[in-house]
Amino acid sequence: HDARRLIVVSNRLPVRVTHEEGKLRIRQGAGGLVTALAPVLRDRGGLWVGWPGATGPGLNAVCRQFSKDAGYLLRPVELDDADVAGFYQGFSNEIVWPLFHEFMLPCNFLPTYWEAYRRANAKFSAAVAAAGRPDDFIWVHDYHLMLMAKQLKEMGKSFRVGFFLHIPFPPADIFLRLPWRRQVVDALLEFDLVGFQTLKDRVNFAESVRRLYPGSRRKGRGQVVSVSSRGRQTRIGGFPISIDFQSFVRDAARQEAVAAARKLREAFGNRFVLFGADRLDYSKGIPERLNAFAHLLESSPELHGKVCLIQVTVPSREEVPMYRDMLAQVERLVSGINGRFATPGWTPVNYIYRNLPREELITYYMAADMCLVTSLGDGMNLVAKEYVACNAALTGTLCLSEFAGAAMEFHRHAAMINPFDVEGVARAIREAMDTPAAVRRRHMRALRDILRRFDVFQWVDSFLMAAFSKRLGDFPTK
Ligand code: G6P
Repeated sequence: HDARRLIVVSNRLPVRVTHEEGKLRIRQGAGGLVTALAPVLRDRGGLWVGWPGATGPGLNAVCRQFSKDAGYLLRPVELDDADVAGFYQGFSNEIVWPLFHEFMLPCNFLPTYWEAYRRANAKFSAAVAAAGRPDDFIWVHDYHLMLMAKQLKEMGKSFRVGFFLHIPFPPADIFLRLPWRRQVVDALLEFDLVGFQTLKDRVNFAESVRRLYPGSRRKGRGQVVSVSSRGRQTRIGGFPISIDFQSFVRDAARQEAVAAARKLREAFGNRFVLFGADRLDYSKGIPERLNAFAHLLESSPELHGKVCLIQVTVPSREEVPMYRDMLAQVERLVSGINGRFATPGWTPVNYIYRNLPREELITYYMAADMCLVTSLGDGMNLVAKEYVACNAALTGTLCLSEFAGAAMEFHRHAAMINPFDVEGVARAIREAMDTPAAVRRRHMRALRDILRRFDVFQWVDSFLMAAFSKRLGDFPTK
């Protein structure tokens, strides 16, 4: 597969486009995916197709300039207001996102959303059809773009196309509630390889296929198997995504970072510092985490003044109703806890509602005694991995939800919790406070060994190997 050009497609381009003083500005985005894919795109030549998020005159010019500097091409797909409302906010974030994370209430199954989803997917497909050469490999990312392989075929294009789902795939009893379930499954089966975060997601998908097509058959065993249904064979596999481990290790070892983390620690004195960082999203279990913290303070008065929670919450999808409601709910809970327990010199919850620059986030990771990941459902959760990567001092504990994809790799060495169980979460925090330093060190070292062995570069390799290999099975990269 080495010689092939790669075309990456994702809803968002890996850049941030903003309007500044009447002009468009473009900057590299912060995500881990771009770190991993940019070198591959540069080596093989290739392009990234996606929505720039903002638009205006001069968009193509700033994209061309960025492409020159980045060493690969950006191909913007412009979405109009109707697309943003029906495809992005509507079908993607009021149907697929909640359904795939197993939240039924926020699902708004509007037929017009489905129409908008098809229309917008067709815009991305048309961009790929126009730019692609016959032997390019097309790698489509995430739940916004599930129809592309099928649409490309309908446009007469026979590219090899892979898909990776960054979010969970739900159990069949949940998925099958989708009014357009058959169209979505049919479309996914048109990809050559469909990658999921974990084996559980892959199994859930296979079960949905079997329920819709009782005649479908599975072949192979291990990480990547194939399903055949109505004469088509599709590879499906689990590929847990990771981070650029070494870049976090490097940044956390910088003198400025070490000094900043020390200063932050001093500000909190001997207190046990709990830390959470999430997009403001109902899947992250932020209210549940705050309730567990409140329960801890309520049930353990001896901890008053001795423990605090730093909660970083990043604004997200503010146009979608559920997200607006959550903001008010979280703020109410934070002020409720502080109002009830604060004393002069001790604020139990330090609440930050903005996007933190990477260096600042790393400082928090380094200083925190425990990172709380309380997702009610989560494809992987990279905060868990970033926290581990930044904890070179081996002093921290990762508290990890059973319902995050990261649990599959980390469960032996993290404090595993059920985020719905406030007593259990409070207990996990108390236990971590009492854990001897040597035990913490051992677990953190083990977590770091796992991460070091499988970083995001290996994730890319393993997906591409599985897409091109003649065989099924496992794709170890070391
Ligand atoms: C999740 C999704 C991504 C998405 C990101 C930010 O991680 O898997 O596809 O880009 O959230 O959400 P947004 O709606 O702002 O793109």
